Amino acid sequence: MPRRAALTLTIRPALPADEANTTDLWKACGLVVSYNDPGVDFRFALAGETSAVLVGTDAAGEINGSVMVGHDGHRGWLYYVAAAPRAQGQGIGRQMVQAAEDWLRDRGVWKAQLLVRDTNTQVVSFYEHLGFEISPRVVLSKKLG
Ligand SMILES: CC(C)(COP(=O)(O)OP(=O)(O)OC[C@H]1O[C@@H](n2cnc3c(N)ncnc32)[C@H](O)[C@@H]1OP(=O)(O)O)[C@@H](O)C(=O)NCCC(=O)NCCS
Repeated sequence: MPRRAALTLTIRPALPADEANTTDLWKACGLVVSYNDPGVDFRFALAGETSAVLVGTDAAGEINGSVMVGHDGHRGWLYYVAAAPRAQGQGIGRQMVQAAEDWLRDRGVWKAQLLVRDTNTQVVSFYEHLGFEISPRVVLSKKLG
């Protein structure tokens, strides 16, 4: 991917007031699917004691990056890793993933995991570049209604 000068972000936990700008970023990045309500996901993560949404803002305070991070008492999980389309290739994704790793490390979690949709496998090499490895597993899921 073409590289541009790095854009250094200020990374902080999202506040309730960040919901619209954050979910707009997720939509712009193609991360919203019909079966997930991004507002519900955002609010649920902010309400939890073991989860957060981290946002990266530029000098103007605009949200350019995000990651949802949490742990289940065993593993750490990353979701909604996003860099604003206009600002991709400037280190935002790397900074957001590192911030999530730090968030987990601070809570004693030693392993981070994430899921990549089979429609988005081109992003796998980004994570491998950041030190993640493909873990051969079969993931099963069940809607709990
Ligand atoms: C994936 C995404 C977050 C990457 O963000 P980004 O800000 O463009 O990436 P960065 O600029 O931080 O790249 C970090 C490093 O990864 C490399 N990289 C980026 N995309 C890559 C790719 N697809 N394959 C291999 N390497 C990649 C960069 O060259 C860079 O390397 P360097 O730091 O050694 O120079 C961004 O493309 C995005 O938001 N995509 C849409 C949403 C998405 O698919 N999210 C993941 C859901 S699982």
